[in-house]
Amino acid sequence: MMQHELFAEPREPLAEGAVLLRGFCAREVESLLRELDSVTAPAPFRHMITPGGYRMSVAMTNCGPLGWVSDASGYRYSGTDPVSGAPWPAMPEGFVRLAQAAAAAAGFPAFAPDACLVNRYEPGAKLSLHQDKDEKDFRAPIVSVSLGLPATFLFGGQRRKDPVRRFRLVTGDVVVWGGPARLTYHGVSPLADGEDTLTGRYRINLTFRKAG
Ligand code: SIN
Ligand code: FE2
Repeated sequence: MMQHELFAEPREPLAEGAVLLRGFCAREVESLLRELDSVTAPAPFRHMITPGGYRMSVAMTNCGPLGWVSDASGYRYSGTDPVSGAPWPAMPEGFVRLAQAAAAAAGFPAFAPDACLVNRYEPGAKLSLHQDKDEKDFRAPIVSVSLGLPATFLFGGQRRKDPVRRFRLVTGDVVVWGGPARLTYHGVSPLADGEDTLTGRYRINLTFRKAG
């Protein structure tokens, strides 16, 4: 077997409009996590409640002009953190640069995210299959960045009943889906326990969107 066959192709098309960019930000993981501290100090991770009354297993916070929130009255974007009443912290510069670079690499130039949802998974935490559809228009892609412990990402189709493929995402991987793939059903399997040198027993996911 030739050496390069031992490694997965760094750019893996998932569907028309969707691509997995393996290791796209592998060299920036440490600095991204450092910048994340400027978000979680004023806006700590919290477990939101679904409209149905369940506590989400994934802990969340946000940065940027808009943040995704869930409570008894539903899912929506809000300019302020309901815990502090203050605007969400600014999106760190390294976050914005990475989101734009990944979107461009996936064929979506001029991506201008106004929302970054930060998800923190502990062992056992999961995100059921869903579509990202609380945003005002679906022309902009979703840019999803994986940091820390590996996860199994579920990527289905445009209908809930479509077959679902599984992809292992590791720290530094970025997935982008937009255009015809913008409303693809996706999710994350329960996180396996492990130890990452930078995040410990957590996986962190940054999801960039144009929400407003
Ligand atoms: C999400 O769908 O908001 C997060 C996906 C992920 O954690 O990879
Ligand atoms: Fe999502």
